[in-house]
Amino acid sequence: MSVDPKTDCPIVVKGLTNAFNGFTVHDNLDLEVKRGEIIGVVGGSGTGKSVLMRSIIGLQQPVSGEIRVLGHPMDESQEEGEIDIRSRWGVLFQGGALFSTLTVGENVEVPLKQFYPELGDDLRREIAQFKVRLSGLPDDAALKYPSELSGGMRKRAGLARALALDPELLFLDEPTAGLDPIGAAAFDSLTKELQETLGLTVFLITHDLDTLYEICDRVAVIADKKVIAVGSIAELLALDHPWIQEYFNGPRGRAALTTHERGEDEAAEEAAAAQAAVDASGPDHAALDKPADREP
Ligand SMILES: Nc1ncnc2c1ncn2[C@@H]1O[C@H](COP(=O)(O)OP(=O)(O)OP(=O)(O)O)[C@@H](O)[C@H]1O
Ligand SMILES: [Mg+2]
Repeated sequence: MSVDPKTDCPIVVKGLTNAFNGFTVHDNLDLEVKRGEIIGVVGGSGTGKSVLMRSIIGLQQPVSGEIRVLGHPMDESQEEGEIDIRSRWGVLFQGGALFSTLTVGENVEVPLKQFYPELGDDLRREIAQFKVRLSGLPDDAALKYPSELSGGMRKRAGLARALALDPELLFLDEPTAGLDPIGAAAFDSLTKELQETLGLTVFLITHDLDTLYEICDRVAVIADKKVIAVGSIAELLALDHPWIQEYFNGPRGRAALTTHERGEDEAAEEAAAAQAAVDASGPDHAALDKPADREP
């Protein structure tokens, strides 16, 4: 993956200022996203999370600031022959933004048609079908219209379209909003699995504390028109900013932490049980797991 040569980060935002009709949304905002991480972006409603995402992908013209994506300055046009930078990321917009008059499969084909017009119909359809499956939807979902899907399936359809071009970067704006807790947890697992297997860097805007605890490597907090802090949740909790304390230490934050810790305890118990089973099955089997312990 290309990164900014100076920082080794696929997304670098420096001194970003955005304003609408005299109202400043971002004032000198800085953010660096590391290669291969899932970075959670949080902040109160209206603090400019979606505007930040739109700025990074070039849909929002900032008042000032520098944005580099995959090493490319977003305010400069691309060199002739260079791969279109827009084909190297995938976006799941807040609300899904699927074309309602197209089937799910046809929605996934849209970016393929846009960036690879030379692809034959059959191959394009096959790629779209594969992305639908990759997003955890049944094969027949490709033939359905968005209105025929549940909210959770629509999110997955949006994800399938975001994955259409084998992106290096994945932008997700509130992917679990409106999903029931089981659907949200399943979507989180899918995101994590895709990040690990496809080596994606994920920019994930969310209000969902469970998502932050379960899958995010770091969390960036937007408040006071800036990114006021970036780090692990433990690092953020050590700061005494009122919004951070209220958010992570409020009743919902503590409930999410308890769920997360319970999950870790269960995982530790499972690992201990698996180890005990190996140990109980005799020295020969145990030795397979510990080659260094074996006598020469
Ligand atoms: N195209 C636009 N024209 C005018 N104002 C806008 C535009 N887009 C966003 N804004 C304003 O910018 C501010 C930040 O909006 P944004 O959508 O980024 O918030 P957000 O943090 O994503 O909120 P939420 O959590 O509710 O999605 C809001 O005050 C919003 O009204
Ligand atoms: Mg938003």
